[in-house]
Amino acid sequence: MKVAVIGSTGQLGTDLVKVFRGGHEVIALTHRDIEVENPDSCRVLEEHEPDAVVNTAAFHRTEDCELYPERAFLVNAVGAKNVAEVCSRIGAVCVYISTDYVFDGCKGAPYDEEDVPNPINAYGVSKLAGELFTRNYCEHSYVVRLASLFGVAGASGKGGNFVETVIGKARRGEELRVVDDVVMSPTYTVDAASAIRSLLESGAEYGVYHATNDGYCSWFEFAKAIFEILGVSASVKPISSSDFASRARRPRFSALTSVKGVKLRGWRDALKEYLKEKGHLT
Ligand SMILES: NC(=O)c1ccc[n+]([C@@H]2O[C@H](COP(=O)([O-])OP(=O)(O)OC[C@H]3O[C@@H](n4cnc5c(N)ncnc54)[C@H](OP(=O)(O)O)[C@@H]3O)[C@@H](O)[C@H]2O)c1
Repeated sequence: MKVAVIGSTGQLGTDLVKVFRGGHEVIALTHRDIEVENPDSCRVLEEHEPDAVVNTAAFHRTEDCELYPERAFLVNAVGAKNVAEVCSRIGAVCVYISTDYVFDGCKGAPYDEEDVPNPINAYGVSKLAGELFTRNYCEHSYVVRLASLFGVAGASGKGGNFVETVIGKARRGEELRVVDDVVMSPTYTVDAASAIRSLLESGAEYGVYHATNDGYCSWFEFAKAIFEILGVSASVKPISSSDFASRARRPRFSALTSVKGVKLRGWRDALKEYLKEKGHLT
């Protein structure tokens, strides 16, 4: 299979390239190679004639999406439409990477693929629009919802990832205050990339899939787990999300699960693997 990865230098894109290279031909497209909001720029996909395109491009700093919703829609929604249209034209399968933030967090239990989205911030609304554009403009498409990613490359759009942020703060002796009332499914980008590869290889029915590491925790529990695994003592203080000034509303409980047979290892095992890969753990 020839697979084009849009956002190939991003946190997920980096691991998608690695994971697909073990058995497939990869066209790694950086932001310089393609600007998803520009339909002319998306024509670069036609030149490569891929069998599948994985679109990881996003404007995803939640606070900035609230400030600049037009930009969020341009990249996350119009960009998804442009990519899906080209895929449809050239007969490529289109994979759109989405988020747990399409849900409002009121369910109080993990969301599966049958649950109805109801995003409560501009980022989530724009990503849901991207999902709909992808599904409605490319018949042969997958929407893969991920959450709370950590990968060796770190999110270029967010300036790193949570794991590195807390480790860095602890090293500098800074106080660690982490919210304990927001629950999510931490997900290792290597595992998410492998799930996306399996989906494409299996030829599973087109549609929406959740692909997060198994289980869930609060950000506070996640921070504590990092230091437990590292065997480092660090003082982590639980705080409430109301202690943080924020423009965007965020879902309080956005854990994901799959009723479509996607099964990834537990998040603690994945975190341990990440810490090894990153060289924090020998
Ligand atoms: N990070 C998370 O916790 C998280 C959680 C759930 C879902 N997701 C979704 O997962 C996907 C990947 O996230 P990530 O953490 O890997 O993000 P990332 O590191 O910021 O990667 C995004 C990639 O897309 C590129 N890009 C940005 N805007 C673009 C545009 N207009 N046209 C073409 N390329 C563009 C970026 O290039 P430059 O950096 O050079 O601009 C970067 O290579 C996103 O769709 C995001 O919505 C992320």
